[in-house]
Amino acid sequence: MLKKWTNRKTETDYPLSEEQKELDPHNIPNHVAIIMDGNGRWAKKRGLPRVAGHREGMNVIKKIVKRSSRLGVGVLTLYAFSTENWKRPKPEVDFLMRLPERFLKSELPKLIEENVQVRITGSREALPGHTREAVEQAVEDTRNNDGMVLNFALNYGSRNEMVQAIRQIYSRVESGEITIDDVSEETVASALMTEGLDDPDLLIRTSGEIRLSNFMLWQLAYAEFWFTDVLWPDFTEHHFEEALAVYQKRTRRYGGV
Ligand code: FPP
Repeated sequence: MLKKWTNRKTETDYPLSEEQKELDPHNIPNHVAIIMDGNGRWAKKRGLPRVAGHREGMNVIKKIVKRSSRLGVGVLTLYAFSTENWKRPKPEVDFLMRLPERFLKSELPKLIEENVQVRITGSREALPGHTREAVEQAVEDTRNNDGMVLNFALNYGSRNEMVQAIRQIYSRVESGEITIDDVSEETVASALMTEGLDDPDLLIRTSGEIRLSNFMLWQLAYAEFWFTDVLWPDFTEHHFEEALAVYQKRTRRYGGV
């Protein structure tokens, strides 16, 4: 039994039949968050530099954004760069920091047309000027759109976010704006960088890694998790819909019965 478990592939819970893959349009997860992993391994397998995997990964984003928006997903959060990713070789970091501009250059008009609102979750201060300007422009240009929120987690780390939230709440208490007894789950949620966004309902992580990597530790408390061995550059709309179909088969109890 143990052997069976350890050998279990991460992809889906169990293979779904074609019929089971049919999506119920009334049960589309409102917030889907994705840890897009495996770009480096995808490139290595092909004898290409790691950045080739990131470029291909960017192209996958285009397809998944469109499909999510058409399916009626409310928020799509993509973990694009973590607070730990600065440890990577400088040429790779530089390349990653150019991707938002490259993506937005071709996609922003389409996002506007699709009524998508761009949002950024993470510390903007440390981003290079060109990256920051590109993303802030996109946020501004799509501010009034009321379709899907495309939320890029960029220079984001959950522990860093929590430290900032604690500082913010402490200063509100210290200034007398609120008392310590006023601090509730809502106070904490609204001090986080995801303020105003509902928590993710579904978390997808590609590439076979089964960990959270400092991603939305508070917000994922009741999310359903779906892991796949597929590397992010190989991820398709078909895999995305499969994740949603598995989500729709799960029973969410939120600690109840
Ligand atoms: C993880 O794969 C991926 C990243 C750290 C970067 C993800 C970024 C993109 C997919 C493109 C971002 C584009 C925009 C528009 C923001 P990895 O490099 O850790 O892969 P590995 O584990 O196989 O080495």
